Parts: sequence; C-alpha cells; structure tokens
Amino acid sequence: MQSSGYERLQSQVIPGYGSLARLSVALLAASPVAAEPGVDVLVAGCGTGSELLEAVAQRPDWCLTALDPSAEMLQEARQRLGDQAAIQWQQSTVEALVDAPGMAGRFAGALSVLVLQSLPDDGSKLAFLTALARCLKPGAQLVLVDLMQTSLPSLEGQLDQAWRGFQRASGLECSLQDGLHPIGLARLTSLVNAAGFGDPARIFQALGFEGFLLQRLS
Ligand SMILES: C[S@@+](CC[C@H](N)C(=O)[O-])C[C@H]1O[C@@H](n2cnc3c(N)ncnc32)[C@H](O)[C@@H]1O
Repeated sequence: MQSSGYERLQSQVIPGYGSLARLSVALLAASPVAAEPGVDVLVAGCGTGSELLEAVAQRPDWCLTALDPSAEMLQEARQRLGDQAAIQWQQSTVEALVDAPGMAGRFAGALSVLVLQSLPDDGSKLAFLTALARCLKPGAQLVLVDLMQTSLPSLEGQLDQAWRGFQRASGLECSLQDGLHPIGLARLTSLVNAAGFGDPARIFQALGFEGFLLQRLS
C-alpha cells in the first residue's frame, strides 16, 4: 500500500483508528516491565509512525526501536517524527531483527498494531509472533492490535455489512479487505502460546478490530 494518504485511509477503514496508537501506548506504559524509566521498547511494523508519535509524547524516556520492512513507510514516519534521539530506525522484519546481535531478550515491551493480520497463517504468523516473544524480556508485554474473525459465525454477515457501512459512511467508495488473513481467538491463543506468550487478554474491540495484551512467559 502507498504510504501517502495512509493515515486518512486507515481512519476511513478502521473504527477508532485515531485512538488505537494512544490506547496501545498507554497500555504498554502501564505494564510492570515497561513502566521502568528509560527501557527499550520495540514498535514492530511502525508504518507511518502513529505509535511512535504517541510513544514519544507519553513516554519520552523510552528508547524506541522503530522497525518496518518498507522503506517508503519508514521514510514517511521519519518525516513525521523529525530528529528524535530516542528512536533507532530499522528497515527489517521482526523475524530478521531478532537474530541480530544483542536483540534477543532486549525489549521491555513491544507494540504490533495491524501487522499480524497481513501475514498468512502458513507459518508466517507463528514466525512473526515467535520473533516478537524472543525479542522481549521474560515477563514483558506485547500490545497486539489486529483484525479478527468473529467467535460467533452467525454474526459474520452482519459484522461484514457493518464494516462496509462504516467505510461508506467514512467516505470510501470501495471496500478494502483484500489481502488480509484474520484468525479467530482460539487460533490466536494457540499461536501465541506456541510462540512463548501466555493467553491473550482482550482489552478492546471495535467491530472486527481487537486489541490484546500478551505476556512473554519466563
Ligand atoms: C497496516 S500497516 C500498520 C502500520 C502502523 N502500525 C499503523 O497502525 O498505522 C502494517 C505494517 O507492517 C509492516 N510489516 C509487514 N510485515 C512485517 C514484519 N514481518 N515485521 C515487521 N513489520 C512488518 C508493513 O510494512 C506495514 O508498514
């Protein structure tokens, strides 16, 4: 996806997009390990920088690693953020980052907002989640926000219609849900457990978009 106009498009597609980054950072900032001053925090799939802007505003003491494989997204994020000594920029996937020297077990917290949904469930989701768990210190938390399948199949049609209605009412002429690979809560639980996290705790939901807190097991 082109990053130009990305923020506006996300707001039209995702109910509550404007609050996602703020809420995600506030949740992580309140976690026991990331609450410590000056700790390292990973923003995985930082895109055009929404979570980074919030992190810098809410926790200027955090040492942030802003990671995205897309040069275009990183460039836009860097333009929005300007010169920030607290941010290390990495053009990489999490899967590649974790094997770099000093990265395993380095981070006191991580954010992954709207990233897992784009990875197919063919081993790619598990590899991403495993890499995130390995990056974290034991007991550290990940805030994961993603498009999910509903747990009530009878509601699927209604939710899909509501999402399309939300997009139309927000000014989008066509619906954008291609190329996404949402999974249900049972599958997410099995994947995060296999990756090294405890069970996901849901902390918010807007239509199909859900936010979870995950804790890396010792
Ligand atoms: C939909 S955007 C979300 C960006 C931002 N978090 C937000 O909420 O606006 C997903 C981002 O994840 C990045 N991404 C995809 N696969 C990734 C991976 N394996 N590791 C890290 N980032 C990844 C993409 O390049 C893209 O910028």
